[in-house]
Amino acid sequence: MTDAQNVSAAAAGTAVAPIPAERLPRHVAIVMDGNGRWAEQRHRPRTFGHRAGVKAVRATVESCVRLRIPALTLFAFSSENWARPPSEVRALMVLFLKALDREVDQLHDNGVRLRFIGDPTAFPPDLQDRMRATVERTAGNSVLSLNVASNYGGRWDIAQAARRAALEVAAGRLDPAAIDARVLGGFMSLADLPDPDLFIRTGGDHRVSNFLLWQIAYAELYFTEVLWPDFDERCLQRALADFARRERRFGKTGAQLRAEAGP
Ligand code: IPE
Ligand code: IPE
Ligand code: MG
Repeated sequence: MTDAQNVSAAAAGTAVAPIPAERLPRHVAIVMDGNGRWAEQRHRPRTFGHRAGVKAVRATVESCVRLRIPALTLFAFSSENWARPPSEVRALMVLFLKALDREVDQLHDNGVRLRFIGDPTAFPPDLQDRMRATVERTAGNSVLSLNVASNYGGRWDIAQAARRAALEVAAGRLDPAAIDARVLGGFMSLADLPDPDLFIRTGGDHRVSNFLLWQIAYAELYFTEVLWPDFDERCLQRALADFARRERRFGKTGAQLRAEAGP
C-alpha cells in the first residue's frame, strides 16, 4: 500500500476502501470561498474568517504533501476582489504577508515549491519582494507545486498569454499561422503543470468567478457547502473520493474507455 492509500484509508475510516494512487488527481485547484460568512455566523469581523482560512490552507497543503498530489493551486485574491472595502483589502494584504513569513520555513522543509500566478504589480513593494524571495528560495523543491493565485483573473491570464504570443510574432520568432490551442496554452500561467483534474469550490456557490478559465477546460467540478475555514482533511477526502468515482471521457464514449481498459 502506498503512503497516499494509507492516508486515504486512515482519514476515510476503515469501512471505506482507500483511493488507489492512480485515481488521485495530479492537480487540484481550489476556490477558497466562505471566510466572510464563517466570521459573520460568529458575529465577528470578516477578517477573523480570513485568519481562520489560513489554517485551512495549511491543513490542505499538508494533506496534499502526504497524499503525494503533485500540484495545488489556490485562489487567494481575485482581480475583482479590489472592489471590496479598502479596509478588508488592506487586512488581506497584511495577512498574506504575515502568513508568508510564518509558513515559508515549513513549506520549504516539506519540499513545497511556492509560486504566484496573477499580476503582482498592484501589490505593495514589500509584499512583492517577499513573494519573489519565497519563490526563489523554494524553486528547487519538487514534492508539491503550490501555486497561489493573487490578483489573478482567468481573463487576465488569457489576455497576457495573447500579449506574449503577439510579442513573439512582432519579434519574428512566431508565425501567426502556427498559433493554436497548444501554442497559446504554452503562454498561460502554469503551462509547465498538468491542467487541474479537480476543481473544488467551497462556500456553496456554483460558479468559477474568473479562476483558471483556460486550464479547467476538462477539470472535474466539485462544489461543497462547507465554508473554507471548516474545510479539513475529511472534506478533502470526500472531494477526492468523489473525483475517483468519476468517468472522465474526454470526448470519447464510455464503451471506448471500457474497451481501452481491457478485460
Ligand atoms: C473568500 O472568502 C476569500 C477571499 C475572497 C479573499 P470570502 O471573503 O469571499 O467569503 P464570503 O464569500 O464573503 O463568505
Ligand atoms: C472568489 O471568491 C475569489 C477567491 C476565493 C479569492 P469571491 O467571493 O470573490 O467570488 P464571488 O464574488 O462570490 O463570485
Ligand atoms: Mg466569497
